[in-house]
Amino acid sequence: MISSVCFCVFTAYFLVFLSCFFIASNGVFYEELAEGIAIKRTEKTSHLNFYFHDIIGGKNPTAVKIAGPPNSTGYGFGSTTMMDDALTEGPERNSKLVGRAQGLYAIAAQQEVSLLMVVNFAFMEGKYNGSSISILGRNPVFNDVREMPIVGGSGLFRLAHGYALAHTIWFDAKTGDATVEYNVYVTHY
Ligand SMILES: *[C@@H]1O[C@H](CO)[C@@H](O)[C@H](O)[C@H]1NC(C)=O
Ligand SMILES: *[C@@H]1O[C@H](CO)[C@@H](O)[C@H](O)[C@H]1NC(C)=O
Repeated sequence: MISSVCFCVFTAYFLVFLSCFFIASNGVFYEELAEGIAIKRTEKTSHLNFYFHDIIGGKNPTAVKIAGPPNSTGYGFGSTTMMDDALTEGPERNSKLVGRAQGLYAIAAQQEVSLLMVVNFAFMEGKYNGSSISILGRNPVFNDVREMPIVGGSGLFRLAHGYALAHTIWFDAKTGDATVEYNVYVTHY
């Protein structure tokens, strides 16, 4: 009995030693990380609520047009804008900054105003400071609530997946400026 237990322990050590040996060797095209096998982490889902301020008009715009056809059709098909928009805790522009939306949006539909969103939300507040999530989605801006997939993340949001719900709470038709409430549901480790 004791000897068989010892044997098992010995075998286990031997296997650990072997796997370390293989992982440490050079010139391996791919490998399974021992850490990934040994540590079983549990996923959790976080809900984040914040406000996005897209400022196109005025002296200090945070979103600028970078590309598009010279004569765009009715809905501005092809028009592409780069943004570095503030994300705040409350709906007011001067509310506490929690991050920035850095990326671009482009008018990707000819029959409606629908954007392609390619954007990283870089958080700067609390425990999420330095962490980010990446969004790649479709944003038909005049719909009440738009859902966009979260396709990844970094830092505390490593291996993130989830969805973001966008709801415009204020829009200035003259300048194009808008404030959008975001509810983000993100699953991560
Ligand atoms: C685009 O607009 C410019 C100036 O407004 C005009 O000269 C040109 O002919 C237009 N091109 C097309 C393809 O309509
Ligand atoms: C976020 O992190 C940066 C860099 O580590 C630091 O300079 C900054 O003060 C932090 N911001 C907050 C609000 O904690």
